[in-house]
Amino acid sequence: MFKKLTFLILSGPTKEYIDPVRYISNESSGKMGLALAEYAVKKGHRVIFISGEVKKYPAQVKLVKVTTALEMFKESKFSLQKADIVISAAAVADYRLAKFQKHKIKKSGNSTLLWLKNNPDIVKYCGKNKSNKVVAGFALETQNLLANAKLKLQSKNLDLIVANGRDSFGSDKTTVYMIKSDSIVEIKNRSKKFIAGKIINETVKIFENIKSLKNNA
Ligand code: C5P
Repeated sequence: MFKKLTFLILSGPTKEYIDPVRYISNESSGKMGLALAEYAVKKGHRVIFISGEVKKYPAQVKLVKVTTALEMFKESKFSLQKADIVISAAAVADYRLAKFQKHKIKKSGNSTLLWLKNNPDIVKYCGKNKSNKVVAGFALETQNLLANAKLKLQSKNLDLIVANGRDSFGSDKTTVYMIKSDSIVEIKNRSKKFIAGKIINETVKIFENIKSLKNNA
């Protein structure tokens, strides 16, 4: 029997402003988040889509546009209660400025020191507060891909992590590994749309398993 679920999908880059015209951000086209949302909608699910600035947003979702990691965190905490499945494909900036400069920093000839502080880890917060929800994240690594991704699966208390290399930046096709605590599945050189379908189906499967275990307890 089909069950309509609520997905909370985090996508796109966050921006941390240094002064009114300069910011720190991460590389992210938002294509994977878009593909995840489109597939979930196509399957008849509800989607709350919290996104940093990108070129294209999905249709038929509850769209929440954000700029900074703190805004994404606040909106995610608010929407977490409504979600059955959380997937973070967002490129969240790990640091923000300790002090925002109200006016554009002058090219004075002296170098300017920037003091940074840590941003909250949003998907980790969701993982630690998930109760019966499914929480999935991504791990983009430039070295020791599988080992680093497995560490993140554990430390963020995720049900699934999707590991990929740098070749996925902005491209339509990529290779990923879907990692759970007891399995690794490679999806080689496939479109982000195809991979998104696999991820959504896998998270629904995990959700149903958790539910049936709970019902049989
Ligand atoms: O630790 P790392 O940034 O590599 O982890 C990647 C995963 O964590 C992604 O799913 C990303 O969306 C999420 N993340 C987050 N909040 C952060 C940093 C990363 O939710 N501050």
